Amino acid sequence: MSSYELKGKIAIVTGAGSGINHALTELLLEAGCSVVMADVRLRPEAQQTLDRYPHHPGNKDNGEDHRPSAVFQPTDTGNWAQIRALWETALQTYGRVNIVVNGAGVYEPPSSTFWNPPESSSSLSSPSPGVGVAPVDDPDAAVGQYQTFAINTTGPIRLAQIAVEYWLQHPELQGNMLFFASVAGYVHGLLTPLYFASKAAIISFAKSLGGLREHCGIRSACICPSTVHVCTLGTRLPTCLPLLLYLFLNRFWLLLRMVYGDVFASTNLSYLLSILHTKYRQTPLIHEIQKHVNVRPDDLGLTGKECAEVAMRLLQEPQYGGGEIIECMKAFNVNKDKEGGDETVIQLREVPVETLYPSFYNNNLDTIMGDPEKKLIQRLQQGKMRAAVE
Ligand SMILES: NC(=O)c1ccc[n+]([C@@H]2O[C@H](COP(=O)([O-])OP(=O)(O)OC[C@H]3O[C@@H](n4cnc5c(N)ncnc54)[C@H](O)[C@@H]3O)[C@@H](O)[C@H]2O)c1
Repeated sequence: MSSYELKGKIAIVTGAGSGINHALTELLLEAGCSVVMADVRLRPEAQQTLDRYPHHPGNKDNGEDHRPSAVFQPTDTGNWAQIRALWETALQTYGRVNIVVNGAGVYEPPSSTFWNPPESSSSLSSPSPGVGVAPVDDPDAAVGQYQTFAINTTGPIRLAQIAVEYWLQHPELQGNMLFFASVAGYVHGLLTPLYFASKAAIISFAKSLGGLREHCGIRSACICPSTVHVCTLGTRLPTCLPLLLYLFLNRFWLLLRMVYGDVFASTNLSYLLSILHTKYRQTPLIHEIQKHVNVRPDDLGLTGKECAEVAMRLLQEPQYGGGEIIECMKAFNVNKDKEGGDETVIQLREVPVETLYPSFYNNNLDTIMGDPEKKLIQRLQQGKMRAAVE
């Protein structure tokens, strides 16, 4: 199997307005792939990227012979009408779509956390007797959707559904999908159960679609990063000054403590500085994570670019594309003393989700799915996604 060629391809990247997926957008553009940047807004550095790769209307095929370009389509990926509009814009602008990166995500913000149930203001002011707040949703919540799920799970699935139907009819386009899950998809805790569950669902979905490469030539993979720090240094210095101040003072404080021992131990300057940093940092997801779990900027983590480089490997390398669930994290290099090398390394592993399969399956889902799945595959290979109504 050969590597996937990015030059001349057209990608939709959701969440491209910030963080990891902005870094990935830059790498895709550098590799010669044009990008439709879909996000609710662009951070300044993403706007700069957009400005550096202007698209000239009328030039539909920004392919082999042309410089790659970027366009911004304002999109709330929790809204299916806007996902549809995103797809149509991509087709109108470039005439085709080869790659879909489902990168947009939120970390269970206060507006959509399990621990803040959706209540109407009237129900809050009129608790039912004896049981506290009455469980009454706002009238416009009739659909029953958590935003955390709408953005992290349902939106990516809907965009994938549109893409797969399109690529079944256009196998020559070599469809390629990447999903952003997280290690949070298989670790658990009370603090953010919606985030964990929303990412677990994406892992299961991506793994389920893995067979599309073998049967229909459509690649898919899922990346599960651990902590990623997204530094905007160099693109927007004023917003990075608190970060630099934090890092400098934090190191200085550690030095003082090393020299003078525990005299300073009771004063947690580090904590105060991390609040200062959090207040000024603008990357939305990291901001939420910091509020929840106190991730500090000098905690061990990947940079946005390092994470995006792993994402590029999943999009291109021949050993990926069959629904692999790939964890990536920064770790201390335990072999450094023996073999030298860097203090830290980026570790990748395929998350062994199959180990959870019940033993009676004998690790062979064929026995359960068997003939119906074979019929589905035949239909997909004929370019038909929808079953005829019987
Ligand atoms: N940063 C981490 O430590 C980390 C770890 C594991 C997984 N991830 C995942 O990586 C992806 C990127 O995260 P990041 O760290 O770059 O965070 P980020 O906040 O910088 O990027 C997320 C982007 O998604 C966009 N977004 C949010 N709601 C949206 C909506 N309704 N419609 C369209 N776009 C929307 C935001 O505007 C933002 O630009 C996310 O899916 C996240 O869950 C991040």
